[in-house]
Amino acid sequence: MYKKLTSTCGLMGATALLSAIVAPAFAEMMPPEKSLSGLEYELIGKADIFDYAALDSYSEAPFLTEFVAAGKLPAVADRLPSEPIVMKTGAMSDGIGEYGGVFRHVIGGRPEGWNWMAGQHQGWGGINMAMQECLVRQGPRWQVKAEEQTGPLPNLAQSWEWNADRTEVTMHLMEGVKWSDGDAFDVEDVRFWWEDNVQNESVASRMPADSFGGAGTTMEVIDDYTFKFTFASPQSENVLEGLAYIQGCPGPSHILKSNHPSYNSDATYESYTGSMPNDVTPAVVLGAWVPTVHRPDELVIMRRNPYYFKVDESGQQLPYYNEMHFKLSTWGDRTAQAVAGTGDFSNMEDPGNFVEALKQSQDADSPVVANFGPRVLSWRLMLNFDVASAPDDYEKALRGVFREKDFRVALSHALDRNAIGQSVARGPFAYPYVAGFATGSPYYDADSSVFQAYDQSKAATLLDGLGLADSDGDGIRNLPNGGDNIIIDVLVEAERNADSKQLEAVASQLEEVGIRLQARSSDGTTLDTNRTGGTYTAMLSRLPVILPTRETCESFPAGTNCPNFNKGGDRLDFEAELETAFNAFNASNDAAERAQLAKDMQKLMTENVYYIGTVQVPAALLVNKRVRNAHPGTPVFMYEWAEDSVMRERLWTPASLQVGEILPGTVAEY
Ligand code: GLA
Repeated sequence: MYKKLTSTCGLMGATALLSAIVAPAFAEMMPPEKSLSGLEYELIGKADIFDYAALDSYSEAPFLTEFVAAGKLPAVADRLPSEPIVMKTGAMSDGIGEYGGVFRHVIGGRPEGWNWMAGQHQGWGGINMAMQECLVRQGPRWQVKAEEQTGPLPNLAQSWEWNADRTEVTMHLMEGVKWSDGDAFDVEDVRFWWEDNVQNESVASRMPADSFGGAGTTMEVIDDYTFKFTFASPQSENVLEGLAYIQGCPGPSHILKSNHPSYNSDATYESYTGSMPNDVTPAVVLGAWVPTVHRPDELVIMRRNPYYFKVDESGQQLPYYNEMHFKLSTWGDRTAQAVAGTGDFSNMEDPGNFVEALKQSQDADSPVVANFGPRVLSWRLMLNFDVASAPDDYEKALRGVFREKDFRVALSHALDRNAIGQSVARGPFAYPYVAGFATGSPYYDADSSVFQAYDQSKAATLLDGLGLADSDGDGIRNLPNGGDNIIIDVLVEAERNADSKQLEAVASQLEEVGIRLQARSSDGTTLDTNRTGGTYTAMLSRLPVILPTRETCESFPAGTNCPNFNKGGDRLDFEAELETAFNAFNASNDAAERAQLAKDMQKLMTENVYYIGTVQVPAALLVNKRVRNAHPGTPVFMYEWAEDSVMRERLWTPASLQVGEILPGTVAEY
């Protein structure tokens, strides 16, 4: 199945800029048969990537056999489901793997705790995806051929079927999956996720209650491995995409229920959220690796999960790597360490690092390979429209101004996006982004995108028209009728270089039209909590919009409490229309109709400046050369982040090249 085919997949921009930077050295280094003009991959069917099947026999990482012999673990066949997920050899770029070794990540975040169902994050950069498994999966879809591009890949939900009018979908769970402590995974875990987390407004779930299939969606348990969602109106496969990544990923109900206020009158929602603290390891998970040691600000060590429910075609239980590291450092360091060879993987997303990292990666002795994927990252300035939750009168007045279309259009016109791009990195890396779908999205449509060209006099006229004059002559415009100066606090994650630099550029450009921004720098955890809680005045952040079904609450009015920047449900005029288009998109099974609805959404979001886009950049994925099966062409961000798209459970390193484990011969013990 895997063939070295060349497909020109829209990365001409990225490769052109890459060759411009490193042209002379690069020309010498590239083997003649390797073309930089395209990616090398073949689009395949979903079941060509993985399927479900009972194999004749199974084997395991050799050290686990000793645990079995000592009576500490059941035999591998008894730890696996009746029909495990079988990763297909034909889709592996380097084939079936060898066990052992370490896969080393470096991340900028810090684990808040392990209770992801209550909204806690684990520090991002792929750590959450190493421990969580979700009902469906999106990452590997970048490889799926067009004829099968309908909805997500299965995962814990092995199959599903719709009723005739598409108001009900019945989902079948894999049978016999076990948690990392050996407890059975079944429909009770799904019910607990849905009823006691997603539907419970006191729990800060990452899937807001009515964002999945609209208000009124219910779930009914049918038997131990079957459940049914009933929707208030017809839905399509699209809506199921919301059951992937951090949203549809059940936690261990057998651990969490006794800490949840619905089952324990001594528990509070605060104590529930904190009931899987980051310093209590090992955590109970379904993922390929188990958080086993957490050294704050230093390292998280994860060990292979002996109950993991996936195998390769030879019957070897996955994952191949025994250990996974997450060095707790900075995002910039992630790229630096990947380039240096002390980290194995980096989504290179700060254009400030591009030139140096790409130059170094072209050296024949470089430990790392850099690949630009066909998709882009985008940044935006979000203004909070929720007047009711504003903390004081000044903020109420300010948010009232944010709700004025002319104000947002003015701010958009005031920005010189090319200069913002140059502030992040000199060179042809960043290009303007207005709002809505980034250009890398299959739903992006240039003709439906309304672009506010750089024109500060137009911006000034619009602001004057709103009565926002500089009434006290200090260079800053005032709220109407001689109110206070317009000074907007903008939350930014200090450590994310590309974000902070953009905010500096945006602030100096807006100052030129009399609007002052004041940077409020924070750490990633604080920013995350404020972003999802909608507790900020304004925020500058990298939030790529690729699909209208991914982390919907970040970008769309997907339910009453969404988007995060307008949580109170007091819709802007056009927002109701956007909500209707969004819901119609989710309900449609007709690709042409969906494409049109996406165009409508793009027009509404850009014309009304739902948020103020700044720039977008192509990003490269850095992978250490020791790593096998990191499929060429894996995008940094397409249907999901690269850590999911690359399918880490099937990555491996030949024994002779493996990095030594810190905890060899061990598994998490409970
Ligand atoms: C962070 C990183 C991204 C990616 C995601 C995965 O946001 O900046 O590159 O690793 O985490 O969730």
